[in-house]
Amino acid sequence: MLALDSYVTLGRSGLRVSPLTLGTMTFGEDWGWGADPETSHQLLSTYLDAGGNAIDTANIYTNGHSERIVGDFLAARPGLRDRLVLGTKFFGNLHLGDPNGGGAGRKALIEQCEQSLRRLRTEYLDLLWLHNWDRGTPIEETLRALDDLVRDGKVRYLGFSDVPAWVASEAQTIAHFRGWSPVVALQLEYSLLERTVEGALIPMAQAHGMGVMPWSPLKNGHLSGKYRRDGAVPEDAKRAAMISGTSEAEWAVIDELNAVADELGAAPAAVAIAWVVSRPGVASTLLGARTPEQLRVNLTALDVTLDNAQRARLDAVSAPELDFPAQYNEHAAILQFAGATVDGVAHPANPPLADNLARY
Ligand SMILES: NC(=O)c1ccc[n+]([C@@H]2O[C@H](COP(=O)([O-])OP(=O)(O)OC[C@H]3O[C@@H](n4cnc5c(N)ncnc54)[C@H](OP(=O)(O)O)[C@@H]3O)[C@@H](O)[C@H]2O)c1
Repeated sequence: MLALDSYVTLGRSGLRVSPLTLGTMTFGEDWGWGADPETSHQLLSTYLDAGGNAIDTANIYTNGHSERIVGDFLAARPGLRDRLVLGTKFFGNLHLGDPNGGGAGRKALIEQCEQSLRRLRTEYLDLLWLHNWDRGTPIEETLRALDDLVRDGKVRYLGFSDVPAWVASEAQTIAHFRGWSPVVALQLEYSLLERTVEGALIPMAQAHGMGVMPWSPLKNGHLSGKYRRDGAVPEDAKRAAMISGTSEAEWAVIDELNAVADELGAAPAAVAIAWVVSRPGVASTLLGARTPEQLRVNLTALDVTLDNAQRARLDAVSAPELDFPAQYNEHAAILQFAGATVDGVAHPANPPLADNLARY
């Protein structure tokens, strides 16, 4: 059984993080669906008391309020900050109308980092994330400015979030050959209802030493078990508006998830998170919760063990349509190694090579 103090190293780095990281996008009420500061502090205490060590925020979350809430919590607990892995993100513009207020240019990102440090009331960040791809800034500029922040002692490790696979792999290759700080982690949307990252991003992350940190493992609560086919939605489901028009294919995933959860006597949310935690390439999964009770349920994901049959059922019902050439190449690989066993996988669908030779 996993526990929050069964730490994993994040990507190709020596940074140890819990298998579940506490997300703080629900901290603050400016976006209409979050928790007040007091409840947010209870969420932090619940997670830390359970043994967790990693906190994720962003400059843009509730327009800076999420970072302030975390900063106030840390300031009231001297000695705690250094024991935590504290990460935030830059990119989102908090200065309406200023074109350099956000994005990933040198001027913009250094200033955003300084502002985050002030709101978080800390001298350094353990992880600084590029929140989104800035297609208007050369990636070398972003990397070099980030490397300066690392050399200045303001940042320990770097991560990328929501960038195309080719951008992250180009960046990592440049950083490697220039001796700049590498990208050690990748944040991606990943859940039973969003698996397209399996095509290019996750294999890229594995090849380049980036630990995957999945976000929205419950797809905004869609996989929590509280959304039902009859359309009834609990009154306090604040993010219900973000979930509209559930397709038949999505209901099939939710039905199978609920069935597996019933068999295990576990909460659907816990099973959905357990499935993400156990996927290849995943280092630490981001939890979203608005109440301490939701968080306690989500933390039970580490108690869930899926057997092979249950895993196969969830895998099959949620199987994604991947972009070319992911699916094509699975088929092409079978042809290429016709009849052979490669990496322990036999391809019985094809005739042995000798048969082919006899035929032509
Ligand atoms: N890098 C990025 O671009 C990015 C994007 C998004 C998120 N993130 C990070 O990932 C973290 C997690 O993402 P997320 O908040 O979208 O996660 P999520 O788990 O998919 O959704 C969380 C929401 O689901 C509902 N919920 C959670 N646990 C529940 C439970 N046990 N029972 C019933 N409902 C439950 C709550 O909504 P209700 O209020 O409706 O109950 C909660 O706000 C964020 O905090 C943030 O740190 C990163």
